[in-house]
Amino acid sequence: MKRAKKLFSLALAGILAASVLVGCSSKETTTNTEENNTVAPTKLTLYAGLMEEHAIEAAKEFEKETGIKVEFVRMSSGEILGRIRAEKENPKASVWFGGPADAFIAAQTEGLLEKYESPNASVIPAKFKDADNYWTGIYLGYLGFVSNDKFLKEKGVAAPTSWDDLLKPEFKGHVVMANPGSSGTAYTALATVVQMRGEEDGLAYMRELHGQISQYTKSGTAPGRMAGLGEAGVGITFLHDAIKYREEGFSDIVLSVPEEGTGYEIGAVAIIAGAPEMEAAKMFIDWTLTKKAQELGQSIGSYQFLTNPEATPPHQADEIKDTKLMEYDFSWAGENRGSLTEKWNDAIK
Ligand code: G6P
Repeated sequence: MKRAKKLFSLALAGILAASVLVGCSSKETTTNTEENNTVAPTKLTLYAGLMEEHAIEAAKEFEKETGIKVEFVRMSSGEILGRIRAEKENPKASVWFGGPADAFIAAQTEGLLEKYESPNASVIPAKFKDADNYWTGIYLGYLGFVSNDKFLKEKGVAAPTSWDDLLKPEFKGHVVMANPGSSGTAYTALATVVQMRGEEDGLAYMRELHGQISQYTKSGTAPGRMAGLGEAGVGITFLHDAIKYREEGFSDIVLSVPEEGTGYEIGAVAIIAGAPEMEAAKMFIDWTLTKKAQELGQSIGSYQFLTNPEATPPHQADEIKDTKLMEYDFSWAGENRGSLTEKWNDAIK
């Protein structure tokens, strides 16, 4: 009797081990067949377009709550778009986590995203998510200027309060922005200027601005850091990133905004088409839309406004909450991402 029981246990262990192996060798980590839906997903790969510290924290918390091990690579928006495009036939990551929606819309037009209507998306206002459920907004960031106070005093110039102010002779050679090809922040700036002024005048402005620029960085947060360090006089950035740097001790940081109105980002999340870890990807999207997940960023200095109306926004962003925003057209910005960055490249040649 005892021996029969032992044999039965061994056989059961064998069956379980075999089913785990089957799960691991298939493209999905779940045995997601109609009859058998029992093996939970074990891992998830993300491409993260938000701050690295934010992605680390999210990965830790999601793993704690679900047991799913998360790996991620932090890249700027344009880099993620390029990577997903290159991996189209054999996607390596399942979720695109963060960064302005413009690049997501560009990806959507190329068939690079998978539709997913999360049950948790119902609380997210329609203006912060795609009507066809290809991407959902998780946060909002406002574009502005970050100056170095010592620089301003030395030059005897006030912090810029309009895009035209950046063209003042005092700023020549001291303005830093990221490259709109790589950075979602910089693309938001380019699309803002072009939407406000029209294509011809907008690109003519970018050409003039080029004469003031000391460096185009790869990532959108770098200009804030450089202004904080005094390596730049003024940077174009998302204001919440500048608040983070000021809080970290770069006390010379001065924030200002174009008073005519400024552009903004909807930071998004989406499943990559053909995601190798589809179940885990859906669970992650559901999680990012919760109050708890959205409030996580502020614990590590990610001070965006949040899209879940039940989530409490970071008090650190109070000072910018009344920033005058323009009517930023996300569809236009996304659909024209490729052609507009090309035109920008030509304009600054
Ligand atoms: C930072 C900001 C995010 C933004 C991202 C864009 O991480 O905190 O709000 O979405 O930059 O990064 P990128 O390098 O593409 O400009």
